[in-house]
Amino acid sequence: MGVIQDWKINIACADSLVRKRPIFAAWHITYRCNLQCKFCSFWKNEVDLKREFTVKDFEESSKKLTKLGVRVVNLAGGEPFVRKDLPDIVRAFTSDHIVIINSNGSMINRENARAIWEAGTDVMNISLDFYSKEKHDFYRGKGVYEKALNAIELLKQTRLRKTQKIAMQAILSAENYNEFEELVKLAEKLEVEFTFNPYRPGEHEVDLGMKDYDLSMLYDLKKKYKYFKATSYALDRTVEFVKNGYSPNCGMGKYMIALDPYGNIGPCEARLELLAGNIREFESDKILSKLNKIHSENSCSSCLTRERSEVEPLYHFGGWEWMKNLFDVRKG
Ligand SMILES: C[S@@+](CC[C@H](N)C(=O)[O-])C[C@H]1O[C@@H](n2cnc3c(N)ncnc32)[C@H](O)[C@@H]1O
Ligand code: SF4
Repeated sequence: MGVIQDWKINIACADSLVRKRPIFAAWHITYRCNLQCKFCSFWKNEVDLKREFTVKDFEESSKKLTKLGVRVVNLAGGEPFVRKDLPDIVRAFTSDHIVIINSNGSMINRENARAIWEAGTDVMNISLDFYSKEKHDFYRGKGVYEKALNAIELLKQTRLRKTQKIAMQAILSAENYNEFEELVKLAEKLEVEFTFNPYRPGEHEVDLGMKDYDLSMLYDLKKKYKYFKATSYALDRTVEFVKNGYSPNCGMGKYMIALDPYGNIGPCEARLELLAGNIREFESDKILSKLNKIHSENSCSSCLTRERSEVEPLYHFGGWEWMKNLFDVRKG
């Protein structure tokens, strides 16, 4: 990325925040996945290969997203690495957006690791939910733990600049909160960041339970470990969420949006049925006003995604920690 290009994105981020536009888009670029994790339902969604977006579709969409105010695109799925053209998809976005990829790590090899960095990916999140290999593999599939660690190693070896971030990302649940310190220590040892998002209940094979467990240790981890990345706002919201079982004032549609593999735009990845339009038939004003309407009528408070914890505070006081994180990735 050129310096001017990077500054252009940072200024655009600030502009979206000032104008209160949705800065963040989670795009599930495919529902295909090589795993069937027991706590996830994304892989159960309808797969229609013919309707999945081509690289050209993504290129056109990148510009359209900027008109909504989007500056950060999080490519997820399904498993993004199922798409062999993932580096080209990343390239479609990097001149207008900060690009984050979420992956289970099991399809990453040296070649595709290098390719996604060369394409300009800013942040790679690799899922590692349990310190215990047996538990991780029980929930995600045999051998996935080792593959995730191997992916982190390959990503470290192949990245082009230190500001290209790698994070180990865990779902926080009743099943693993007592392993968090070990996970953070592992992240420190590997010199990658550690981030988390609370478990979202749903139609999953197992329920990882939202029980009223004691999360005061999260504050200690933030104090103790520099690779533990969570804003104070995120910690407060998480503790409240686990205690009460809900988290009000969701910024869905207002501060963040989500897209499915077929271009449908909704306010949140968990509520894509609240359709605001399709990016193929794009009219920014109509979509923005629909998103605003969905946001103002919304009473959903049943989950707290990582995006929520990180993006919502940007529009209130207290979001500076993540803003700094955002600006750092395009620092050169
Ligand atoms: C749907 S996955 C897609 C990317 C990739 N397949 C992966 O597993 O990282 C995106 C993120 O959602 C998380 N996730 C899956 N099921 C979840 C649930 N029930 N509650 C909270 N997070 C969940 C995953 O761990 C991952 O960090
Ligand atoms: S969590 Fe990720 S890897 Fe696991 S089934 Fe869901 S989409 Fe696939």
